[in-house]
Order: sequence, then structure tokens, then C-alpha cells
Amino acid sequence: MALPAPDPARGARRLLDWFAANARELPWRRTRDPYAILVSEVMLQQTRVDTVVPAFLRWMDRFPDIPSLAKAGQEEVLKAWEGLGYYSRALNLQRAARLILEHHGGQLPREDESLLALPGVGRYTAGAVQSLAFDLPREAIDGNVERVLCRLLDLETPAKDRRSQARFRKHIRGMMAENSPRSVSEALMELGALVCLPRNPRCNGCPFEGDCLARQRGTVLDRPVPGKRMPARAIQAVFGILTDGRRIFLQKRPPEGLMANLWEFPGGKLEEGESPRKALRRELFEELGIRSREEEKVGTLRHSYTRFIVTLHVFLVRVEDASGVPAPGKMTGRPSGWFTPLEARGLPMPAANAKIMSRWVEGLESDAEI
Ligand code: ADE
Repeated sequence: MALPAPDPARGARRLLDWFAANARELPWRRTRDPYAILVSEVMLQQTRVDTVVPAFLRWMDRFPDIPSLAKAGQEEVLKAWEGLGYYSRALNLQRAARLILEHHGGQLPREDESLLALPGVGRYTAGAVQSLAFDLPREAIDGNVERVLCRLLDLETPAKDRRSQARFRKHIRGMMAENSPRSVSEALMELGALVCLPRNPRCNGCPFEGDCLARQRGTVLDRPVPGKRMPARAIQAVFGILTDGRRIFLQKRPPEGLMANLWEFPGGKLEEGESPRKALRRELFEELGIRSREEEKVGTLRHSYTRFIVTLHVFLVRVEDASGVPAPGKMTGRPSGWFTPLEARGLPMPAANAKIMSRWVEGLESDAEI
């Protein structure tokens, strides 16, 4: 049976009525400041709303505007990002703030080209800033919005498919033609977050219920059609908590590349056929020039990255003489040092290392025996 295509203008009116009655109170919705909206959107890219809310408030307190972020020290920027993970987002935000000061007189630009030229700003983030901050008719299509529209239009192509993306854009522009782009953008995101849920959609309370093609054809749970996906690769790694009884040893990651400049425990990936203990001994020798003989396994931890699932084997390594780590004369090329748990808590760390800190190191008083 041919069903009529959903009408964007009528759908938008129902959506906005629903949004007016159901929107969550979120701190970035109280502002029109383009910088604050950029910060919130970058934080929300890979992190849940519950985690972002306190981090956003802290960040805006510490870096209330573009100049304060542009002139901050990198260490401080990384620290303010802690808990959110994917630290390159923080460094990109700071680089963006510096470019905005240099090239745009300190005002976030509104044109596609200038926004997309900022580090860390892709099509989604640019569209979010343009619609939410400047009320321009630009679509911001994240995973939630994709799901809503794949269902509303009952698309048989995966969400990332070019044909799907073109349909999304056309429909959203139609919704924005006679309504505030800001409201349409926010309301679509909110519908995806609160109603059009992946596994248990709440179709009965949905403003699109009468229009939604997937609802009428009984295909809601089959939309979006999954695309081809690379499976997450399983990796095993070891970390050593080196301690002299009072302090722990940490080293700084290189200034370029993944998780640049963050502080971490020594360790690394297991090689083919290697046991965790053997891998730890090898890593400690390669990285620090020390030979460890007695390591105590304290536990394992699972940690997911975008493309990897890592099993981390964590060992406690007691060191008699801290001045022998790294071994005298060993050129590691990386800043490193011994820190009390209290001092270590003040250092920015990758998420897996922060987990190790909170599980096995923190909670100990700074002067207690470890
Ligand atoms: N996810 C991405 N952007 C969002 C926003 N502005 N509000 C709530 N959730 C979001």
C-alpha cells in the first residue's frame, strides 16, 4: 500500500509542540553564546549527556570565553577535560579558539567554509553551531537524528549511505522552511534521545506517530538498516604500577599523536604468544631500562575505544630505589617522575589510566604506604 510521504511542515509543527512540553533543562540550552554551544557539541560528540553536564559547567567556569581558552596552558586544558576521554577534542578546541582570535576577531564564524576549517569541526558540529547558535537553516545530523529520520521516512538504505544523507537534508530543510532552525535541530536531537530509542522506542508518545512510515509498516526495529561495520579488535595490554612504597611512577606521552601529553603508567601491548607478566618485563626493560623480578598481579580491567576492546592486565611492581627508574643513563625522551597519589590525581591521564588510578591507587592517603 502506498503511504503518503510525511509532510515536513506539518511534522515540524507537531515536533515543536512536543519539544515545548518535553525538552530537558540542559545548561547549553540556556545560552545562545556560539562558543558555549560549540563546547557543548564537541563534548557531546562521544560522551553521554549525564557526563557532559557537570564537565560543561566546570569548563565554562574555567574558560568562559574564547580568549580565556586561547591563552590557557595545555596542561590545564587537558585537566579540565578529564572524565570526557578522547582528549584530542580538548586540544582541538583550544587550537580553534586561537584561530578564531587570529582570523575572526574572536567571534565564531557562521559560514560553512570558515567553520569547517576549524580543527575538530566537521559537518555535524558546523551544522549544530549554525542552527543552534545562529538559527541558520543548516542540518545537524548525529546518530539520534539519523535514527529518527530513517524511521520517519522508512529508509531501506543505511544511515551513512549518501542517498540517506540526501533524504535527511531535504526533509530537515523542509522542516526549517517555516520554523526556527534552532528549535527544529534541538527538537530532532531530543526526540532521538527521549522517544525514538534504538531498542525500546516509545512510539505512543511520539509527535510523528501518525506520519512515521516505519511505524505504519511495522519496520521500526529494522530501521536504521545496519551498515557494514568493522568489528572492534580485541587487544591485550599490561600496565605496571611502579611504587617505592609511597609514590608511583608515571611518564608523559609524546607531544604528538594519540592521547598526546597525557600521563600514564609504563606498559604496552602484549606481543604474539607472550604472557602478561613477560610482556610487562619486556616493556619495563625497553621503556625504562629496568629488570623487574617480582610483580604482583592486582587485577584486570576492560576498556573500550572506538575500534578496540582492550583487556588490561595490571601489576604492582615494588621498586627498592626510585632513583634507579628510569635506569641511570636511559634516554626515554619523555618527561617522567615519581608522584604521591594526591599529586598524580592532579595530572591529566587517558581514561584507562584514570580507571587504574581510581581502582588501585587513589583512596590511599598521600603519605600512606602503597
Ligand atoms: N547531543 C548532541 N547535541 C545535543 C544537544 N544540543 N542537546 C542534547 N543532546 C545532544
